[in-house]
Amino acid sequence: MIVRTPPMGWNSWNTFGKDINEQLIKETADRMVSEGLLDCGYEYLVIDDCWSLKERDENGRLVPDPEKFPNGMKAVADYVHSKGLKFGMYSCAGMLTCAGYPSSYDHEFIDAATFAEWGVDFLKYDYCYKPGSVSGDVLYKRMGAALANCGRDILFSACSWGADETKKWIKATGAHMWRSTGDIQDSWKSIKDLSMKADQSIKYSACNSFFDMDMLVVGIYGKGNVGLSGCTDDEYRLHFSLWALLGTPLMIGCDIRDMNEVTKQILTNKEVIKINQDPACNQPYSISQSRTFDDDFVDECPVYAKLLENGDYAIGIFNFSDANTWGTGTHIKLDMLGLAESTGKTLLLTDLWTGEKIKVTNGVFERTVPPHSCMLFRGQVIDK
Ligand code: GLA
Repeated sequence: MIVRTPPMGWNSWNTFGKDINEQLIKETADRMVSEGLLDCGYEYLVIDDCWSLKERDENGRLVPDPEKFPNGMKAVADYVHSKGLKFGMYSCAGMLTCAGYPSSYDHEFIDAATFAEWGVDFLKYDYCYKPGSVSGDVLYKRMGAALANCGRDILFSACSWGADETKKWIKATGAHMWRSTGDIQDSWKSIKDLSMKADQSIKYSACNSFFDMDMLVVGIYGKGNVGLSGCTDDEYRLHFSLWALLGTPLMIGCDIRDMNEVTKQILTNKEVIKINQDPACNQPYSISQSRTFDDDFVDECPVYAKLLENGDYAIGIFNFSDANTWGTGTHIKLDMLGLAESTGKTLLLTDLWTGEKIKVTNGVFERTVPPHSCMLFRGQVIDK
């Protein structure tokens, strides 16, 4: 199975944690379609941890909790598929899942076969309770091999949080996406912490092996399993814009049965999603002035760019600081995109959140970006 663009979907963990059941999954499947999310590309509906009983059956197979899933998982998968969606589940490479349920260590092939039989299309694979005797890469290689041999296309989503230098060995395991950092929480601090670490992984991300900055918290507003203080709408917009531009998977984490208008607008901005799903899959890169001097500098106002398949650029200015960006050297310099003065070219920018069009003059674009917000553009190359 080859996964050409960052996976998109919904996952139960960020809002519901252990409180999951068939009814919730069915209602979520319905809403993914009726709210237009599937149309936007959100195709995987993933059940995270806490779905099984604490013991395997007499044949060593995992058993869905009959109170939560009275009709078994095949019935849930069938319902999800009947809506035109794909179905995802969760297990773990260690001795237990992170919430203490049976995991797939030493049961990789039987579990992959079970998932295939149930109609699973996506497996999130966690890293808790790792046995000391086996290295992380071997644990993921086991499940990678089991999935590749299970007779069904199952997207392999590794979740080892960047531990043990995941980025250096994960591509060999067959994982289509891999968590590069720890768990997200629904707070500005968490979004900022993860964002400041993105640079360490971008260069290791590629088509069919996407780095994963964790599931979205857009629209949680402090409610739910990872809901701490919640964020402002501008902060959620920044979070979504950065995840989109950096080419990390877009897995919704809020309760989509109860989204407000702003949440819907953010999650269904098709122009922003196009940047994330650009088929060329080119690597995004920093065009922050400060980076050119010092690689270790923690840049609170990063500027990232990505060359798109049709020759346009995606460019984002992100302000993680508590002050306005004006005068801080945070700007778009065309020279750094390969559009030097001598090319005779400039950019016509479209602001992907407001629709405003701006022609760049004199090779530099600078605007005040307020604290905790961002600007995201698609730039078309035009004659000066
Ligand atoms: C880990 C993962 C989370 C979630 C929980 C479930 O913390 O990183 O994304 O899957 O386990 O227990």
